[in-house]
Amino acid sequence: MSEIRVLPTDLEKPFTGSLSVPGDKSISHRSAIFAGIADGKTEVSGFLTSEDCLATVAAMRAMGVSIEQDSSDPTHLTITGCAGKLRAPDADASQIDCGNSGTTMRLLSGLLAAQPFTTMLTGDASLSRRPMGRVIKPLSEMGAAFTSHGEKTDCAPLEITGATSGPNAFHYDMPVASAQVKSAVLIAGLFAEGRTSVTEPAPTRNHTETMLRHFGVATTHEGSEISLNGPAMLRAGDFYVPGDISSAAFWCVAAAARPGSELTLTGIGLNPTRTGILDVLAQMGADITRTVTGGQEGEPFGDITIRGAQLHGTTIGGDIIPNVIDELPVIAVAACLASGETTISDAAELRVKESDRIATVAQNLQSMGADVTERPDGMVIQGGKPLQATTVDATGDHRIAMAFSIAGLFASGETIILNAECVNTSYPGFAGVLSRFV
Ligand code: S3P
Repeated sequence: MSEIRVLPTDLEKPFTGSLSVPGDKSISHRSAIFAGIADGKTEVSGFLTSEDCLATVAAMRAMGVSIEQDSSDPTHLTITGCAGKLRAPDADASQIDCGNSGTTMRLLSGLLAAQPFTTMLTGDASLSRRPMGRVIKPLSEMGAAFTSHGEKTDCAPLEITGATSGPNAFHYDMPVASAQVKSAVLIAGLFAEGRTSVTEPAPTRNHTETMLRHFGVATTHEGSEISLNGPAMLRAGDFYVPGDISSAAFWCVAAAARPGSELTLTGIGLNPTRTGILDVLAQMGADITRTVTGGQEGEPFGDITIRGAQLHGTTIGGDIIPNVIDELPVIAVAACLASGETTISDAAELRVKESDRIATVAQNLQSMGADVTERPDGMVIQGGKPLQATTVDATGDHRIAMAFSIAGLFASGETIILNAECVNTSYPGFAGVLSRFV
């Protein structure tokens, strides 16, 4: 599927019913990495079988970890950990292809910084433009050697030679609020002698911390500092991956923006470092209830019910930004459907995602007739102008393709989204669910 075509739904037709979404992307990556280095066998259920997460699975396999995928349920993995002893990928596979996945490249950088061999991490054109200096800097201080072979400075392909006698324990004061950078440093710290810590300028998703605890490694969170003591051996422990709230977000916005809707999303991860989207939509006037039905070690999951309303504009900035960073494209769509002004600020990180999401969102919304002004760190949207159907370009960015599919449900005619095959990087099956809405 290289393009998505969306027909608008009848304005009088509310979105109702219930649906579930595939497993959480961040948690799936970490489950493959942590179970892969643990001692023992872990059964992972609910794993996200998207291109991004399968890149992490392939990488762990290339380094000697046995990962079996259940033929009758591909979301069930049996991972036999290597008890901290990864092997160098075979010479012909010494390049590990991270595809489109920044999480794969940055988390594996942390892991490889601690292994006594050399590996090359490669990625697609989008990933090869994304900044890797943010992990190269702290991991070099921990003793790893990086050579960037990219066309741009500090960009992939990245050649990594791990610290031969183990990385140094280290404290890193992170200049950007990034869960990927935090995770890379903490993962390297698992192999270091002593205490490794990071301070974050704003709270970021804490799956690394919660999941390390599940795998038997204590992490401490004091103020803005997160630390662990190494060397630490992870203990295998079966893990259930809940539904991805970042995928659920698309349907949440559709229902929130259509008065009369009542949509329930079941089995969704409700870790509070990820639920900012629900707070933003509630702030914009949607009626949202969440019910925790289960969970493990800091990773609750449950059901979300959204009752739609005429939304109104809001202000989004400051510490909530990392919590909603992946949802901002679809929040911008919600802002166009709302009355009044919405301001998104402190979100310059959006410019270094799979695309420059400030530019792609603003330009595509403008081409649909919305009143959007781009800012260096966000955008200002005057809501309420009807969205015109047109052709927009997702530029190979999955969240842009899906956000504009939702915009298309509210547009004046058929919306065509080009370069949209990328939805498979995080949400295989998206198009099928979309067709239930039209
Ligand atoms: C992720 C962290 C975020 C997010 C990405 C997944 C993670 O990136 O945008 O989709 O799994 O740690 P940053 O840490 O770069 O903000």
